[in-house]
Amino acid sequence: MKSRDLIFVLILLTIVGGLYYLSTKNKAKPMPVTVPAHSVVTARTDCFGCHKPEKFAELEAQHKHPGKWRDERVSCLLCHTKPDGSKAEQHFLREREQFAQLLRQ
Ligand code: HEC
Ligand code: HEC
Repeated sequence: MKSRDLIFVLILLTIVGGLYYLSTKNKAKPMPVTVPAHSVVTARTDCFGCHKPEKFAELEAQHKHPGKWRDERVSCLLCHTKPDGSKAEQHFLREREQFAQLLRQ
């Protein structure tokens, strides 16, 4: 193999490795199944019953939580998955389906 090819392969590996590293960084943790409430709550106001906003302000100041938690239009579930692995959109779809069923009855 020519040394030029080797350098090309090394650059490629560095880029792929770097992207992989970035994709593992700063991932929002799923809600632990050990807390039963996690399976039933969806609204951000529900979360605040146990997870205090002051805590997030503190974490945000230490760059340990994205500032998006402050945005009332953004569901916590957009980033944190429920214990069953579902996310905000799926809950929205499920609720819409239940609502549609109510209308049909
Ligand atoms: C009834 C109280 C309660 C409610 C409501 C609640 N949580 Fe929790 N949550 C906890 C407790 C207690 C823990 C810590 C569990 C542990 O350490 O095993 C926790 C842990 C977490 C963690 C993991 C934190 C870590 O460091 O690993 C996330 C993420 C989380 N909750 C998100 C949420 C979200 C999002 C909501 C709202 C949809 C929510 N929780 C609602 C009590 C609650
Ligand atoms: C934009 C995505 C995003 C949103 C929205 C979001 N979070 Fe997080 N959350 C994160 C990330 C990223 C972390 C840090 C994970 C890490 O570094 O370990 C985190 C960490 C946490 C933790 C663990 C904090 C600890 O003690 O270390 C809890 C609990 C939590 N979030 C709850 C919530 C709740 C409740 C909401 C809604 C009010 C929310 N999050 C909204 C991305 C988000």
